[in-house]
Amino acid sequence: MNRFYVTTPIYYVNDIPHVGTAYTTIVVDALRRFHLLLGDESRMLTGTDEHGLKLERQSQEEGKTPQAFVDEMAERFRQAWPVLDIETDDFIRTTEARHKQFVQDLWRRIEERGDLYEGEYEDWYCVGCESYKTEKELLPGNLCPIHNKPVERLKEKTFFFRLSRWEKPLLEFYERNPSFVEPATRRNEVISFVSSGLRDLSVSRTSFTWGIPVPGRPEHVMYVWFDALTNYLTALGREGDPLRRHWPPNGRAVHVVGKDILRFHAIYWPAFLLAAGFSEKELPSQVFAHGFLTVDGQKMSKSLRNAVDPLRLARELGADTLRYYLLRAIAFGQDGDFSHTALVERYNADLGKNLGNLLSRTLGLCVKFSDGKTPPIGELGPLERELAATAEQCFANARSAWDELAPHRALEATWALSSAANTYVDRAAPWASAKAGDTARTHTILGTLLEVLRQLSVMIWPAMPRKSDGLRAQLGLAPLAPHAGDAIWPKALAPRPAGEALALGAPLFPTIDKDAEQALLEKLAPHVRQAEAAAAAPAPQPSPEGGAGKSAEPEAASAPINYDTFLGVDLRVGYVKTCEKVPRKDKLLRLSVDLGEPGPRTIIAGLALSFKPEDLVGRKVIVVSNLEPRDFGKGLVSQGMLLATGPSEALHLATVEGDPPPGSRLK
Ligand code: ME8
Ligand code: MG
Repeated sequence: MNRFYVTTPIYYVNDIPHVGTAYTTIVVDALRRFHLLLGDESRMLTGTDEHGLKLERQSQEEGKTPQAFVDEMAERFRQAWPVLDIETDDFIRTTEARHKQFVQDLWRRIEERGDLYEGEYEDWYCVGCESYKTEKELLPGNLCPIHNKPVERLKEKTFFFRLSRWEKPLLEFYERNPSFVEPATRRNEVISFVSSGLRDLSVSRTSFTWGIPVPGRPEHVMYVWFDALTNYLTALGREGDPLRRHWPPNGRAVHVVGKDILRFHAIYWPAFLLAAGFSEKELPSQVFAHGFLTVDGQKMSKSLRNAVDPLRLARELGADTLRYYLLRAIAFGQDGDFSHTALVERYNADLGKNLGNLLSRTLGLCVKFSDGKTPPIGELGPLERELAATAEQCFANARSAWDELAPHRALEATWALSSAANTYVDRAAPWASAKAGDTARTHTILGTLLEVLRQLSVMIWPAMPRKSDGLRAQLGLAPLAPHAGDAIWPKALAPRPAGEALALGAPLFPTIDKDAEQALLEKLAPHVRQAEAAAAAPAPQPSPEGGAGKSAEPEAASAPINYDTFLGVDLRVGYVKTCEKVPRKDKLLRLSVDLGEPGPRTIIAGLALSFKPEDLVGRKVIVVSNLEPRDFGKGLVSQGMLLATGPSEALHLATVEGDPPPGSRLK
């Protein structure tokens, strides 16, 4: 029996489920379901990634213990997926005991084989990526190219993994297994990265504690990616565990990931396994890296992402509609856009007018001409033969597309059949044969249509399990309950016996008319517009709008805070090194400010109505240095805020006396 094991990345619990993580998880669920229809032993894994510096810091900010924080957040993920009709076979958390033991075992195996050694490491680190960055990867201003946030300089004692040793074996492995990384463009990226040389990898940390301790060396915690990648195996247990049959060579294991984390999966993960003594045959079968989504054309900043809450969309439109849209509208593997209008368009066109209409007109005719029951099928004519041939083609096309991890093509092939059936109704014209008194012919046409609908209920199940149930209920059929060993993916039309009850019901996809669409977009999109506006607009005072200080009226005093709260605001003396206008933003200036750090900070400030750029160069300013970087869109990220007072066209900058060195703290 074939086995198909498919995984999502385990998501960091620093965020709640959003349309990006929902996307990967929906695709993986659909793939699992497709393989169930083939009769495969099909298994899906998702879960949460809960260790590392990022989460340690975030829990501190929230005033919680790391464990309490991750417990709470992991629950958000666990509860979210069923709302999207995602059925995972296991949900793994990296803070579980089963995982900790498993990772420590893997570490020991690698250590015994000699690929771990101690040393000291210093480099730039992006906490967002939980990854070191080389100088040449960074954007100007020492920004991480993925997170657009400043990286940090880290230096500490560490264990190194001898990654360099695996450069050649990896290249040979990719060569022998060309489908290990897909799509092909991603494979080429990986190969060129590895060919350009692999440095040994720092795989333990000593400067914080929120991680899995290194066996025998508890002052070290494991690098979060070493811990995280191992989840895929932890979940199948140790050798000898029956679940291990899902892993190669006995099963096919596919890791679906976003392109942001390809390198970890395509390079580090197989290298760790090889170093632990796994053979090439025991490596995962494939790493498939999909593209990134934007929302209504905009990069998904955190605020924008949260504005498109997939759970809310599922409640408004049904999980199936969201699933269908994501699977069909985005070519899997390429970047794509999540657009509210396109979602409604697809709903009306593909779901309502095409499939929904096919069902309601077929059942309407059955009520009229066949007593609401399945009719007997007589002799097939050329139109039926043509439709049967098209159907077989669509079954095969959709099947191979799903199998090749191309859900968009699979659904295209599925809808090609629905369209063909709609065309067939028009051409066969059962109402005409009925009018002419040719009941046998009428029945043959309706029976053929019912059979196509029955097969479509199977084909849509991976993408739209609930609508499949609804479609089947109207056809008088029980919901699908596929199980291993029983292949039910359609091969050919095989109409049902006559006389079975049908149950014409409410439309499967009621049309969203212009007014309803308007109302829906109002309901869903204002959040997006607000988030866009917030991203494009000004920081609080001194904002490009001049904050609240437009008039000379004194601002109301704020509520008292304690000294610790005050100390939480890190105020530093900065020196403006360069300053320029921001094109097309008439209130904004872009400054680089020396805060005594290795590189200057980029600060975007709403000062342009009060100052000429050249007036500010060399000025001493007060900077709130620990404010979250603020994304103004289009690559404009501010890494701090200047203090000032006054309306935006007459601002006064805050400063200090004398010449304290850059970076001096105010307290
Ligand atoms: O990287 N478009 O977790 P993470 C499409 N914990 N997919 C997106 C997306 C977008 N805009 N944003 C996020 C981690 N994703 C690690 C993984 S695995 C051993 C450890 C999806 O929470 C996409 O699948 O940052 C991406 O790879 C993943 O979320 C990153 O999730
Ligand atoms: Mg991420």
